Amino acid sequence: MTAGERPGLADATRGRLLYGGDYNPEQWPEETWHEDVRLMKAAGVNSVTLGVFSWSTLEPEPGAREFGPLDTLMDLMHANGIGVVLATPTASPPPWMGRLHPDTLPVTEDGRTEWWGGRQHFSHSSATYRRYAAAITEDLAARYGGHPALTMWHINNEYCTYDHGDEAAAAFRRWLRERYRTLDALNEAWGTAFWSQGYDTWDGILPPRLPHYLRNPGQVLDFRRFTSDMLLECYTAERDIVRRHTPHIPVTSNFMPLWFGQDAWRWAEEEDVVSVDLYPDPRDPLGAQHGALVQDMTRSQARGPWMLMEQAAGPVNWRGVNHPKPRGMNRLWSLQAVARGADAVCYFQWRQSRQGAEKFHSGMVSHAGEDGRTYQEVKRLGADLARIAPEVTGRHITAGVAVLHDWHAWWAGAHDGRLSSRVEYPDVLRAWHRALWQAHLTTDFAHPEHDLTPYPVVVVPQLYALTDASIDNLLAYVRQGGTLVCGFLTGVADEDDRVRPGGMDARLRELFGIRTLHEWWPLEAEETAACEGFRGTLWSEEIEPADPDHTIRYKGGELDGMPAVLRKGRAWYVSTLPEPEALRDLLARIAEGAGVRPVLDGLPEHVEAVRRGEVLFVLNHGREPVTVEVPGTHHDLLTDTAVTDRLTLGRYEVAVLRP
Ligand code: GAL
Repeated sequence: MTAGERPGLADATRGRLLYGGDYNPEQWPEETWHEDVRLMKAAGVNSVTLGVFSWSTLEPEPGAREFGPLDTLMDLMHANGIGVVLATPTASPPPWMGRLHPDTLPVTEDGRTEWWGGRQHFSHSSATYRRYAAAITEDLAARYGGHPALTMWHINNEYCTYDHGDEAAAAFRRWLRERYRTLDALNEAWGTAFWSQGYDTWDGILPPRLPHYLRNPGQVLDFRRFTSDMLLECYTAERDIVRRHTPHIPVTSNFMPLWFGQDAWRWAEEEDVVSVDLYPDPRDPLGAQHGALVQDMTRSQARGPWMLMEQAAGPVNWRGVNHPKPRGMNRLWSLQAVARGADAVCYFQWRQSRQGAEKFHSGMVSHAGEDGRTYQEVKRLGADLARIAPEVTGRHITAGVAVLHDWHAWWAGAHDGRLSSRVEYPDVLRAWHRALWQAHLTTDFAHPEHDLTPYPVVVVPQLYALTDASIDNLLAYVRQGGTLVCGFLTGVADEDDRVRPGGMDARLRELFGIRTLHEWWPLEAEETAACEGFRGTLWSEEIEPADPDHTIRYKGGELDGMPAVLRKGRAWYVSTLPEPEALRDLLARIAEGAGVRPVLDGLPEHVEAVRRGEVLFVLNHGREPVTVEVPGTHHDLLTDTAVTDRLTLGRYEVAVLRP
């Protein structure tokens, strides 16, 4: 770190891969702490996150401070060579706060209060909450800022609250005044002429509250922006306090993957380390792809190595039915995260609880204890990570394809009055990423206003609302030689969610060779649209082409003979969601035309390959052994053996090959 630069993940890893997890010793007697340390060391754990939900322990009554146990734990960790990611406890205020200060409790859109007794029952807009949060953060930073165990700050936990109450209403008005300056501008942006919604005073504006019928889309969109910004303010307020005490210690706050309520592009700019919590369903046949998507997105937000803050060693307890991970899967998915750029592999939580709401959620040490399969696998993984760390930590990944994603477009497109409630943005995003993943193409994510020139191919699964600057960026990208592939419902609206004349931005229509977009034809659940060579799902469009260079047409039905896919030069438009194999093949062909190759040729299904720095990760997500062609001579870092040209991987096995 040089003067003026922010510290980063490398300052915490120092060449190792961080391994560990949330540690909640306040749930256990002190003897257990010593047992924990023994087991941690045997498993190669080098990092724990302390304090995430310990507010009522640290501040049992207003203004009191009980730092004794934390002092002991910080010293214990340091004495045993285990670094501490120290959390501010502000995600779960103590019961006294809600009791003495009901203004700290959030209110739902139908006016109900969210009470203490669970967690995350704080209003982001509450001045009282913020005051208490700042005070405990200040005292933690002052007390532990100089402690040698401290490696990173972890602010709050999965910021995700909403508030529609009165204090939030006042904050919303302030936020809107800042954005629009005049009521006329707000009325114009929200289109309040429709349904007699014109505001004559700022005081008349509310957060969205239970309406009789559909809400104003502009109001809802701005409320989502406001919520993300308010939570960000809570984060930066605490971050600035810890930074003042410890400018050399990196700061993070853990994201939930693809969480609707938080513009994570914007947030990532405010973090020193980007971290995420990732819980794919072990029973989901596409669980590994879900993991890959989140990992690609987090790496892109971090612009390099990132931190897997939480995953589960076994089952979670918040699905309808919660399945354990079969033997080998925890190792496989952990190494997948490292393959895709993680420099830290951590869990919720170290020791499975015996009490509390998550006592059936797995831990690294399960109820079965040291001899249990979970801990034994955790131990094996610790040794694996130590073995590969010198060759992978800090290394970057080069992707040939960027997938564009933007929260504001998602928020705008999610309005209740849309044409098909079957079109859910995350599903469309997943379908496109899945196609690229199954084609073995390495992908980054990017924001539509980012520099796209490093990528030969850019795909836009669906960006319903685009700013003028984003459209300029896409046009410039194609002009400079990039290949662009856009999916349906892209470029429909501007940033105020005002439909652009013609139902799609005119410059985009021209780019794709579309004269008129006559109608959208959403499809029912069991309905498909036959096209030349494949079937479309979810959506179709009645398009009159202008001058495309190439089309794939709809066959039969109302749209018979009209273009389903258009290409003009290097710009493609796909007006339906092709079935998975068809989308995979289409994108693979387009990528190949742009000179982007899969990581390895001829990879069997269920095998994933990723190149990180010099190292090639090969992961078998299948339950059957596979043979993979890996031309050349390599050294498998996990088994310490030579591999020439070909490799056999058993179920859920991984090879980490150095040339
Ligand atoms: C996360 C949370 C953890 C734990 C975990 C269970 O959302 O940050 O505290 O609740 O889920 O899967």
